Amino acid sequence: MVDRPPDGYSTQRYLAAKRTVDDRALNARVFEETVAFLSDCDPPAQIVEVAAGIGTMLERLLERDALPGEVEYTMLDIDPESIAAAEQRLPEQARSLGYTVETHDGQRLAGGFRESAPSFEVTLSRSDRRVRVRAGTADAFPFAAGTDRTWDLLIAAAFLDIVPGSNRLETLFEMVPGGGYYTPITFDGASRFVPAVDRLFDRRLEQRWHAGMRAGDDPNDPRAGSRLPVRVAEAGGTVESIGGSSWVVRPEPGPDGTGYPGEEAYFLFHVLQFVEQSLMADPQLDDNRVREWVADRRNRVGEATLRYIAHNLDAFGRVDEP
Ligand SMILES: C[S@@+](CC[C@H](N)C(=O)[O-])C[C@H]1O[C@@H](n2cnc3c(N)ncnc32)[C@H](O)[C@@H]1O
Repeated sequence: MVDRPPDGYSTQRYLAAKRTVDDRALNARVFEETVAFLSDCDPPAQIVEVAAGIGTMLERLLERDALPGEVEYTMLDIDPESIAAAEQRLPEQARSLGYTVETHDGQRLAGGFRESAPSFEVTLSRSDRRVRVRAGTADAFPFAAGTDRTWDLLIAAAFLDIVPGSNRLETLFEMVPGGGYYTPITFDGASRFVPAVDRLFDRRLEQRWHAGMRAGDDPNDPRAGSRLPVRVAEAGGTVESIGGSSWVVRPEPGPDGTGYPGEEAYFLFHVLQFVEQSLMADPQLDDNRVREWVADRRNRVGEATLRYIAHNLDAFGRVDEP
């Protein structure tokens, strides 16, 4: 089976392709502690998910029967196209799990979402469960600083590494005073493409890629996972559970030959696109060598012989009472 690089790249397609990679990676113990916390909340359990992308965490919570009977779920992302994608996906996914879906058209969502950007409100019901979902477009930080309500649990998946700094976490914690937080898939500084082209050059590219993450006006933190306990303590919380959630993407034998599960070939092409964009802008690297390296990695995805491993950490914990 041969996969070809796509004609174009889309964030929403990347987030959809990432779903199965995250499903395998999520730390089971941290996930179970989060679920246990939710089951102890007074109904309805109130959850706010920031940087929710296309809503795959809520899909997963429904699929894993991880939510208590009565839930209010607020979901936001800064990217209107992702919220629009969530509006398309969620009803279909919920119906496939036996939920009836009631849409609340035309209702004005509670303050904080960007007006005239995509937003939606639905209630998902099954005999044993009712989940009211409010979703909208918003920057998490002004939303958190400006809202006049609180929630029981904050979820921020694959987000803390792109928003470094304890003060930013402190702002998010203002939404859950005395509540909990769940921050899975926080990148922690190791990414490997296997087999290596040239071990020393591969190590150098990884270092330069991570250096590129730290650079610029809006830097990321490639060591955010390890720094999380310190950031949480500075922001006014405690870590109850923390554990690894490495991404491992590899070809597997299937009915049509060996290939990557689901949309994971696209996921790899998209990751290589991130790497190429970052490294081609790096004056410390030879463009031609980078081009050759990326071309080799793309060919290997096409032939289903590339493995990709990236180290992340998941955490669950409590936020102090004010
Ligand atoms: C790596 S994606 C993770 C998305 C989703 N949590 C997941 O795991 O599939 C990071 C997300 O953060 C969103 N984002 C970035 N900055 C944001 C901000 N300031 N407020 C809200 N969302 C933001 C992006 O639009 C993107 O959807």
